[in-house]
Amino acid sequence: MNVIDIETGFQEKIDKDIRIEPRDWMPDNYRQTLIRQIGQHAHSEIVGMLPEGNWITRAPSLKRKVALLAKIQDEAGHGLYLYSAAETLGADRDQMYEELHTGKAKYSSIFNYPTLTWADMGAVGWLVDGAAIQNQIPLCRCSYGPYGRAMVRICKEESFHQRQGYEIMLVLCQGTPVQKAMAQDALNRFWWPSLMMFGPPDDVSTHTAQSKRWGIKRFTNDELRQRFVDMIVPQAAHLGITIPDPDIKWNEERQHYDYGQINWDEFWQVVKGNGPCNKERMEARVKAWEDGAWVREAATAYASKHTNVSNQKSQAV
Ligand code: 3HC
Repeated sequence: MNVIDIETGFQEKIDKDIRIEPRDWMPDNYRQTLIRQIGQHAHSEIVGMLPEGNWITRAPSLKRKVALLAKIQDEAGHGLYLYSAAETLGADRDQMYEELHTGKAKYSSIFNYPTLTWADMGAVGWLVDGAAIQNQIPLCRCSYGPYGRAMVRICKEESFHQRQGYEIMLVLCQGTPVQKAMAQDALNRFWWPSLMMFGPPDDVSTHTAQSKRWGIKRFTNDELRQRFVDMIVPQAAHLGITIPDPDIKWNEERQHYDYGQINWDEFWQVVKGNGPCNKERMEARVKAWEDGAWVREAATAYASKHTNVSNQKSQAV
């Protein structure tokens, strides 16, 4: 079989929704696209723990602290799940960490914004995890088996994340005027960065067309962004707070909400490392990596000692 036949056969599998598994032949670009996307997704989960970790010690009740701790632990698990999925493609975990710490690999822009009040914990759960769900549900049907299967478990946990966030916002909006104002302020600061999470517009996206052909993406960036806007607008109305976009209005003809122009200059500045918290986030990640070196060394020493002992025993038998 020549290369063209093999590549044709691969695309036919994709077109028939036959899952691609680690041991299957795949074009190198398919492999590299998945390592890039899954690696950046994993980095987003790990860095995404930082803005919320900022509020663990200041949660207003034990119940809120427990829910926030559970959510942050989930995010860590999502990251480990996704690093493992990337490893099935031959990615090296330490290299992925290195690329994150040196700025070579990206993570979601949204995590470069500060979390200034407790209401931000509500907005992050409601909007950021809400956007993540919009983006991740279709990924459950990703053509690459390990990624799609990881997404099924992750999406179940994301729905708890979003629900607890929305409930925080609801309690604040039904609270005192100061509490409601705090919720409005959080919506004002997280609305536009949440829309940016879906990536650049389709006419600018470098990867969408090919990722759709390969069944990695099932929808385009703009399609998922629109679904998110259509979901959130009625929820904000129920909360009684206003989306900071005067152009939001129902378009009967499109059967969608129209919304205003996103500041793509801001988006690309944040992606390039010039956001409000990029430096702080990377410093925290590098410090955590360096502080954890002794744990990695101890675990490696323990594992190699026990491997040697079991080898000696098996040789003695
Ligand atoms: N932040 C940072 N970089 C972004 C970005 C964002 N929000 N959106 C796009 N980019 C980057 C892309 O990585 C790409 O750069 P690269 O070629 O150097 O990787 C460039 O901008 C062009 O964008 P494309 O749309 O062409 O790139 P993709 O096809 O990869 O689409 C994506 C971007 C929609 C984010 C896609 O990568 C994706 O679906 N990733 C998986 C889901 C994910 O990572 N979500 C992030 C949030 S995870 C999360 O929120 C955790 C939750 O628990 C809170």
